[in-house]
Amino acid sequence: MKIKKVTKAVFPVAGMGTRFLPATKSIPKEIMTLVDRPLIQYAIDEARAAGIKEFIFVTSRGKSALEDYFDHSPELENTLRKAGKDDLLEILKETNMDSGAIAYLRQTRPLGLGHAVWCARRLIGDEPFAVLLPDDVIAAEKPCLQQMMEAYEQTGGNMVAAMEVPPHKASSYGVLDIAEDMGAIVLAKGMVEKPKAEDAPSNLAVIGRYILTPKVLSNLNKMKQGAGGEIQLTDAIAEETKTGKVYGYRFRGQRYDCGSKAGFLQATVAFGLARPDLREEFGAYLNDMIALQKAAQ
Ligand code: G1P
Repeated sequence: MKIKKVTKAVFPVAGMGTRFLPATKSIPKEIMTLVDRPLIQYAIDEARAAGIKEFIFVTSRGKSALEDYFDHSPELENTLRKAGKDDLLEILKETNMDSGAIAYLRQTRPLGLGHAVWCARRLIGDEPFAVLLPDDVIAAEKPCLQQMMEAYEQTGGNMVAAMEVPPHKASSYGVLDIAEDMGAIVLAKGMVEKPKAEDAPSNLAVIGRYILTPKVLSNLNKMKQGAGGEIQLTDAIAEETKTGKVYGYRFRGQRYDCGSKAGFLQATVAFGLARPDLREEFGAYLNDMIALQKAAQ
C-alpha cells in the first residue's frame, strides 16, 4: 500500500486554560513549564521526531507569547554568545523554527476542538495530517507520534492514540467502539465524545495524538454542535468509521494529563526525576517529604 507521508501537524492552542487561573491570566497554558521546558516544547519535539516539517498553531487572543517563544531572540543570543554560554545557545536552538515552517492562525470564537482543527483546513489542503494536543504529555522511549506513524505506514486511514481508562473516567474522553482488536492496533466502528460511564462503548479512550485523512476536514464542514455544545473532532472522525477506516493505537508510554493540576504535578515529579542533573537532589527531597508525611500520620 502506498501511503502518503505525514509532514504537517496542527497544534490546537486556543483554549483559555481556566483550570490554571490565575497563572493563565497573562501566560498561555502551553508556556507553563515542566521542569524548564514549556508544555508546547514537548509536543514540538515529539512532532519533529515523527518527521513533521510544518507546524500549524491554532491560537486565540492572548497567545502571542507562543509566537515569541518560537522566534529568534537576537539580544539574548548575543549576550549568551559574548558570555561563552554555548550550552545555553544550543538549548535555545530547539525553540527556533525555520521561516515558513510554522504558521499561526486564530480561532476567533471558542467553538470546540473540531472547529479549531477545521480552522487549519486551507493550510493542510488535501493531505493526511497529525494533530497533537499539548495538554497530553507522553513520556515514552520512542515518542508516541513516531510509534503511531510506524503503525500508520501499515494501515493508512485515520489513527488515534488510545489508552485504557476505568469506566468512571470515560466521561473525560472520546471513547472507541471496537470492531476488531488486533493487539496494539484496534479497528473502530464508532467513537463517542465524553460518554457517561454506562454508555461508554469500551474502556479504550482517545488521547491527544491523531493522524487524520483530509476527509475528516470535509466532515468538519458539516459538523453540528456535539458534546458540551462544541464542534467535536471525535464526531468528525466517527463519521469516517462508516466509509473509511479508523484505528486506535495502544501506545507504549506514560501519559500525563497536564490540563489538570494533579496531572501537571505528577508530570513535574516524573520529569524532574528523569533528569540526570536533578535526580539525586530532587529524589532525596521527595523521600524526605514522604518520610515526614508518614511520621505525621
Ligand atoms: C479532547 C478530545 C477527547 C480526547 C481528549 C484527550 O478533550 O475532545 O476526545 O479524549 O482531548 O486528552 P478535552 O480534554 O480537550 O476536553
